[in-house]
Amino acid sequence: MGEEAKGFGEQLYSRLQGKGLSKYQIDKVLALQRLDSEVSDLGVKGLLSEAQLLEISKIGSAARQKQLASLAVEKNLPASWVRELSKLIRKAEKSRTEAETNKYWDFFFEIKEMIEKEGASPAILQLIKHFHVDKPIPHQGSVEVVESADRRVLSFNKMDLELGRGLDVGTVNICAAALRREDGEVVYNIQRNAFLDVRSDTFTKKMLMKLGIDYIVQGDKGYVLGDPAFELANIFEKNTRRPMKDGMISPVEPEALLIVSLLAAELLGHPQSQGEVCAFSVPADPIDAERNVIYHRGALETVLRKLGYSPKPMLEGHAVVFAELAEQDFTGIGISCGGGMFNVCIAYKSVPALTFSTSRGGDWIDNNVASAIGMPASLVCAVKEGGVDLKNPKDRVQEAIVIYYRNLIQYTLETIKQRFESASNMPTFSKPIDLVCAGGTSLIEGFIDVFMEEFSKINFPIEVARIRLARDPLRAIAAGCLQAALEETRALREVQEGPASTLKRTPVTKVSETIPIDRLSARPPAGKSEELVELEEVQPEEIEDLPAEKPPGQPNDRDDGRRR
Ligand SMILES: Nc1ncnc2c1ncn2[C@@H]1O[C@H](COP(=O)(O)OP(=O)(O)OP(=O)(O)O)[C@@H](O)[C@H]1O
Ligand SMILES: [Mg+2]
Repeated sequence: MGEEAKGFGEQLYSRLQGKGLSKYQIDKVLALQRLDSEVSDLGVKGLLSEAQLLEISKIGSAARQKQLASLAVEKNLPASWVRELSKLIRKAEKSRTEAETNKYWDFFFEIKEMIEKEGASPAILQLIKHFHVDKPIPHQGSVEVVESADRRVLSFNKMDLELGRGLDVGTVNICAAALRREDGEVVYNIQRNAFLDVRSDTFTKKMLMKLGIDYIVQGDKGYVLGDPAFELANIFEKNTRRPMKDGMISPVEPEALLIVSLLAAELLGHPQSQGEVCAFSVPADPIDAERNVIYHRGALETVLRKLGYSPKPMLEGHAVVFAELAEQDFTGIGISCGGGMFNVCIAYKSVPALTFSTSRGGDWIDNNVASAIGMPASLVCAVKEGGVDLKNPKDRVQEAIVIYYRNLIQYTLETIKQRFESASNMPTFSKPIDLVCAGGTSLIEGFIDVFMEEFSKINFPIEVARIRLARDPLRAIAAGCLQAALEETRALREVQEGPASTLKRTPVTKVSETIPIDRLSARPPAGKSEELVELEEVQPEEIEDLPAEKPPGQPNDRDDGRRR
């Protein structure tokens, strides 16, 4: 800034002070003075907020101010994005060497292009925040994959755990749960149930290693699994592949079982003792789709058995009841609002009385909003997960999301009503019961408010005391499965210890019982300390020998898992 300008600034400063403005207000006025007039006009027209204008005003060059301003207006970027981009531009302006300047500008234009193509996704914001000139830029294949702390996989093999594990295998997420012995805390590992196939040549391996991304080699193919796959896919504008579709093993994904097996092994670790119980979630039979769960359940049982566990299927809605309604004597309604499905369970003293699933969940919302307003479903999903308030939608996309959320909740409540009223052997509840929602789709702000509004519009056949969210909606199903596994383990131990303490088992384990534990030839993998080493040893052919028929002792698959 030259002496003249300084003099003008100082003059203005003292003039404004004389008018009684605070230092903050004066700084603001001075900052806005630095704005290019065309950018200021956008503020006057209400297209840019004051917070955005202040961030833009920190940029020295008028041309660059205009560039950021037009991007912010066109892409409706929030102030936090404008702040990060403004920082980036200022760093570029201050670079000491031409090479450094070029790196910043290359990165800026890469980012601009990404935002133009796919909108302001959280992955892009992470990229901007973590960019440094010494780190190469995305298209040179060097993106840092940012893991959030609560989704980092911690090896269960290195922990002292109680016997018994829970596994929630979902269309979008896969979550393992175990109970730490030292402090009685439940520990979780959660990852996207997704993968990317990569070449297994030396160059690719080196690149992935440099980025710190785990990958698995199977024959001549390589795979990146879980969250890193999802984030890499976002950055490179690819779609991940998913082993599951609409709540079940995908019929169109040939590598589905291999991937589920690799992810389960990574998240669960190996069993501590032969045939350790692992309760895993399965959907109830869908009421609105042709498929049934026999193959899905059998396939997952085989996967877990190969890993050395004794698998116990557990209905997903029932797992919600198990995790959340202990204080209500396991009586109430549990709904898992997932990515591929909604799973409902009405339980009476831990026994499921009515269970069913619908094949409408988060994906259904994304796809419908996408086709209604003509934008890619992945983008709708990013907007949805990025923070929408169902009670206060801010734009056309958010309004469409609200419409489909309401429709989904109405549909779920109506279906519960119809099913409950048409079933012949429903329990009579002596007092109002609680209704608990879990699953990622229930995480959106305002979900319970909208749920209660829709609930008040229908003549629900059961008196409900409270409608609430699970304590940790995304992990509640895994927590319920873990409770069932711990319970099953305790019951088995009592049986082994003698007749005096036998059969205090909960009805839950009977409902989800499949193969008697002594008929399994489960064997934990021997002498391996790291899961990744084991992962490479899972042979695809091992997980293809699936049961063709329903195992003995299984509840009838067509009766919605209900005990009569
Ligand atoms: N903050 C959020 N707001 C809205 N939706 C969210 C949020 N976070 C996650 N979701 C959605 O939650 C869904 C995933 O939830 P969840 O992990 O419970 O499903 P899943 O168990 O994998 O699927 P399913 O049980 O149907 O097989 C996705 O549709 C995702 O977009
Ligand atoms: Mg689920």
